[in-house]
Amino acid sequence: MESLPDFPWDSLAPYKERASSHVGGLIDLSVGTPVDPTPDVVRAALTAAADAHGYPQTWGTPALREAVVAWFARRRGVPDVNPDGVLPTIGSKELVAWLPTLLGAGPGDVVAFPAVAYPTYDIGARLAGASPQPMHSLTDLGPVTTGPSMTTPKLLWLNSPSNPTGQVLDHEHLTKVVRWARQHGVIVASDECYAELDWRADVMAGGTSSGLPTPGAVPSILDPRVCGGSHEGLLAVYSLSKQSSMAGYRAAFVAGDPALVGRLLEIRKHAGMMVPWPVQQAMLAALTDDTHVAEQRVRYGIRRWHLRTALEHAGYRIDYSDAGLYLWVTRRGVEDAGAGSRCWTILDEMADLGILVAPGSFYGAAGGRHVRIALTATDERIGAAVQRLAHRGQGG
Ligand SMILES: Cc1ncc(COP(=O)(O)O)c(C=O)c1O
Repeated sequence: MESLPDFPWDSLAPYKERASSHVGGLIDLSVGTPVDPTPDVVRAALTAAADAHGYPQTWGTPALREAVVAWFARRRGVPDVNPDGVLPTIGSKELVAWLPTLLGAGPGDVVAFPAVAYPTYDIGARLAGASPQPMHSLTDLGPVTTGPSMTTPKLLWLNSPSNPTGQVLDHEHLTKVVRWARQHGVIVASDECYAELDWRADVMAGGTSSGLPTPGAVPSILDPRVCGGSHEGLLAVYSLSKQSSMAGYRAAFVAGDPALVGRLLEIRKHAGMMVPWPVQQAMLAALTDDTHVAEQRVRYGIRRWHLRTALEHAGYRIDYSDAGLYLWVTRRGVEDAGAGSRCWTILDEMADLGILVAPGSFYGAAGGRHVRIALTATDERIGAAVQRLAHRGQGG
């Protein structure tokens, strides 16, 4: 097995210490952990399910799987998910970390993922003993027009909207990837956990009447426009951590090709990888209520607007960041400084303001000119960050 990397967050300790010494206290925008209370509708469902004396179904209750099917149809513009192709997971991080192993990847296999990405795609390849392959585009994986080769991955990860960049892949792009994957016999897993946090119909500009993005605006890999109505070889991964402030529940699911999901299910049954029944009930409640998602989206949207405006006034530039819970930030002088981890300059500047952010290099060498700034802080802390940035913008 390729060795696991050092846990990079430890290297933030000196910046955190400095930021914490700010007279107004630390503003931690380095991690994407939700800070708002879990919605009442979810908590009530969890409480009502407190008597859980029997073992839960690894596959999830039929009601939960049907709720996922209905959610795809209602919210994602995917009318034809097969309930046999739905499986709850214990948060999505465990699935991301174990999917290559569960799919039988091993030494000699390649697992590909975006060059700037959530680090667990890489970890998952290593845990399976496969070779991690960051890629800028499909051409990094060999000639696009010819068939499979040594560099053809067994599994290709997509992440749209992206953590950390906030980039959204449109359906033309996804269609191209699916066509290529089918020509080459590659399984595509698409991590879509920020799909409801699309800022292109900005909440500050009124958004849509439901308070949520138009279904399908962030296309799923399972969207018929993308996959032609067949889910063969495709998996979509979704999490309730962000949209429903349920990170502590560990509540997520994978959906798509029933044959692939069947393989995952078989191993997960043997290995005891099952979502507790009270959490399944809480997921069911979350997936059948769009109101709390719209309310949460407004909270994040307002924070994002204030923070984005303050960063731009202070001389920073926001790249991508069309959706998701992060701003992907650089500035002149840092982006031009050449390759490497120039993001640490911005980390320094922010630490002086008492603000802790994440270096883009945590997400791959190609991220080294940016920092990732999370929207997951209270209104009070975001307001304090805005004030400190305004002071910096005035040369203070
Ligand atoms: C892209 C992406 N995938 C997966 C996860 C894991 O989410 P969870 O395990 O809470 O479902 C995260 C969390 O930040 C993420 O950003």
